[in-house]
Amino acid sequence: MRATRLTQLLQAIDRLRPLPGNVTRILRALEEPDTTASLLAELIGLDQALASQVLHMANAASLGYAPECTTLHQAIMRLGFKRIKTLVMGAAVSNQLNRGLPGYRLGPGQLWNHAVASATIAQWLAQRFNYPNPEEAYIGGLLHDIGKLLLDQYLLLDYQAFLELMHTKKTLLWQAEETVIGLNHAQVGGMMAEKWSFPTVLVEAIRYHHAPSLSFEHPHLAAIVNLASAIATRDTIGITDPYGDIPHPEALAILHVNSADYERLRDQAYRYLVNQPQSS
Ligand SMILES: [Fe+2]
Ligand SMILES: [Fe+2]
Repeated sequence: MRATRLTQLLQAIDRLRPLPGNVTRILRALEEPDTTASLLAELIGLDQALASQVLHMANAASLGYAPECTTLHQAIMRLGFKRIKTLVMGAAVSNQLNRGLPGYRLGPGQLWNHAVASATIAQWLAQRFNYPNPEEAYIGGLLHDIGKLLLDQYLLLDYQAFLELMHTKKTLLWQAEETVIGLNHAQVGGMMAEKWSFPTVLVEAIRYHHAPSLSFEHPHLAAIVNLASAIATRDTIGITDPYGDIPHPEALAILHVNSADYERLRDQAYRYLVNQPQSS
């Protein structure tokens, strides 16, 4: 039973639709040596929704330290092609995060709220821990739970067992997923990101956000995303996960944060989050 479900899930990952054609075109242009910022702005500008998301993310990721970008050209010039690539990928996938997920008892918009809160905190933490690319942390935070989009329907097939594990046996959400389905949402998200040819750093941030020490190349980002998600879950901001606000001990160790430091960090990050202007 579990084996069949796992096979179906793996097939669903394999059948995943590729990123939309316009996004693929932009990503291809980013690889061409003679692509200019103007051409890129033109390509991104063809898709209004994508354009406004890239602008929004570029501004959100600058933490208000730089004057607001009002044109795509400015955003591209400021961030550079490499960072724009990450933002375009994030923007392309993030619109899927808005729907409701009955398996996780999340209404429409709730996963999105958790994603934006995690992104904002991850980028704040990136600055605190001198992580060199805060935009990457932002997108990592935004996309870390994408695996839930696919796992949702499979959880419903054995829902009683899933709920019992979490509420009676006090199992962590990702462990309950593994027990019921064979893979957790972080592993599934990592496979999705790989399928969409995301940069390794993002694949690892997503795949290892519940096991940061397994991240070979970028454990710091996986740890930052783990902490960000835990902090964003405080007061159950947009998520139903009884132990989601507990950071992974490995994440604390990687970032050299002891439990007293964490309490302080969490309060500061939380205060920063609630003082943010409401984003989209
Ligand atoms: Fe997660
Ligand atoms: Fe999360």
